[in-house]
Amino acid sequence: MVIDVFTLFPEHFEWFVRQRHVSNALAGGNQLRFRNYRDTTPLGAGQVDDAPYGGGAGMLMRVDVVDSALEAAYGSAREGIRKVALAPSGRLFDERLAAELAGEQHVALLCGRYEGFDERVVEHLADEAISIGRYVLAGGELPAMVICDAVMRKLPGALGDEESAVEESFSIALEGAPEYPHYTRPANYRGWEVPEVLLSGNHGKVREWRLAQARQRAE
Ligand SMILES: C[S@@+](CC[C@H](N)C(=O)[O-])C[C@H]1O[C@@H](n2cnc3c(N)ncnc32)[C@H](O)[C@@H]1O
Repeated sequence: MVIDVFTLFPEHFEWFVRQRHVSNALAGGNQLRFRNYRDTTPLGAGQVDDAPYGGGAGMLMRVDVVDSALEAAYGSAREGIRKVALAPSGRLFDERLAAELAGEQHVALLCGRYEGFDERVVEHLADEAISIGRYVLAGGELPAMVICDAVMRKLPGALGDEESAVEESFSIALEGAPEYPHYTRPANYRGWEVPEVLLSGNHGKVREWRLAQARQRAE
């Protein structure tokens, strides 16, 4: 899989690419690339933004700047690349969407800044807008990291133990429910006891209990 992140701040991702599951996924042949809008802007002095028509606070990321960045990266061959504009008002990101994106060959994440994008970016350049939650962050870099994290941990070889991604919150194995509670040693700490069934050694009963707990959490 190839993920391209279009951003004004590629250096924000330096920490992210060093995370174990990310570096594992990259070592497995996947790619995470960064493209700075400023490197390909058609405007002078590295300009990427402009004042909104109609007035109002702040500046907007210009449509021609985003188009130039896509052009420099892909030429006219943009088909087959899932182009996502990051926006607070977009489709809410969840585990199902993470799985959907992990099934793509090539995803481009467009990070906004300032007051966001000229709407023509969303309408004509991106295939969709995705939001990581109904709150406003200063830029699309953290949302891009959230999406890359959730997507890349699903790629083969990203996690040390492949099984850990199979049965976790919102997975098919748990019928889309949140994960059941986990416990480890000590079995009794300050009188807070681990549920008896988990100490029973009866795998069938443990499985039943876990599924029941997950279902209860989904209610
Ligand atoms: C300050 S925000 C713009 C907010 C915009 N004026 C609004 O009210 O919806 C700047 C950029 O950060 C990114 N961003 C902020 N919050 C986000 C969220 N919850 N999900 C996805 N992207 C977000 C987007 O790329 C956005 O263009």
